[in-house]
Amino acid sequence: MFDVTVLGSANLDLVVRTERHPSPGETVLGDDFAEYPGGKGLNQAVAAARAGASTSFVGAIGTDDAGRTLRSVAEIEGIDLSQFVDRDNVPTGRALITVDHRGENSIVVVPGANATVVAPASISALVVLCQLEVPLDAVTHAFRAGRARGATTILNPAPAIQLPIELLRLCDIVVPNEHEVGLLGGVEALFDAGVATVVTTRGEQGIEIHTAAGEQHQIPAPRVPVVDTTGAGDTFCGALSARLAHGASITDAAEWAVAASALAVGRPGAIPSIPDAGATRRLLDQLSS
Ligand code: RIB
Repeated sequence: MFDVTVLGSANLDLVVRTERHPSPGETVLGDDFAEYPGGKGLNQAVAAARAGASTSFVGAIGTDDAGRTLRSVAEIEGIDLSQFVDRDNVPTGRALITVDHRGENSIVVVPGANATVVAPASISALVVLCQLEVPLDAVTHAFRAGRARGATTILNPAPAIQLPIELLRLCDIVVPNEHEVGLLGGVEALFDAGVATVVTTRGEQGIEIHTAAGEQHQIPAPRVPVVDTTGAGDTFCGALSARLAHGASITDAAEWAVAASALAVGRPGAIPSIPDAGATRRLLDQLSS
């Protein structure tokens, strides 16, 4: 049994740094360009693995250079890739990302092979973690398969869309950002659909936890220099899942994940910026001393 199984997207991120994002119809000059491994699913799998969880990844890439790069990145992390498939005649997913001088990003994803992701018939993991850059059917089946074997299911509803009630009923924990929670009708609507815990991420304001049982907790984010926010939410979700799988309470797991995502914004790129457990522990020790 794995600690964490992540089903989701794997993208090659094409990243331009620029002073400010262009308005519609406008051209601006970029400062530099770089390619990084990314994709919400793969970012979250790497974050879980670097937080110390045995992790498996369910995803799809094309048989192209980008796909080979992403596979080798995941291999280096020790992630189980038996359900990470190569698809002929379809390109690996790409994300076109602009990062401004404040580190804020805007992203357009071209799914490519991510649109072909399907869930395996059976998933054996303590936590199953999904996002929405892959087909909804795959997410629904992954949660069903995970729950059949007792997994905790965690949905990061990004990018934001209206979700069918059948899917929400299969979620134990939902981790939206401020924008996404509004689109889903708010925390109470998620409870009405059967979700037990909502963890809302609020960027530099930290996070809020609400449970259907009426508990509320806020965890502030440490003040850190921001270079690039890309993948910070994914780092949070992966680290949260890893700590929950290791038996932490939701507040302890979230405190760890807030520290991990604070470290992630300090460096460029999605996967290159994800901290390991040692770095996260050092930041937590520093914050508590
Ligand atoms: O959440 C950040 C990620 O969103 C990027 O790595 C990009 O690939 C898109 O999936």
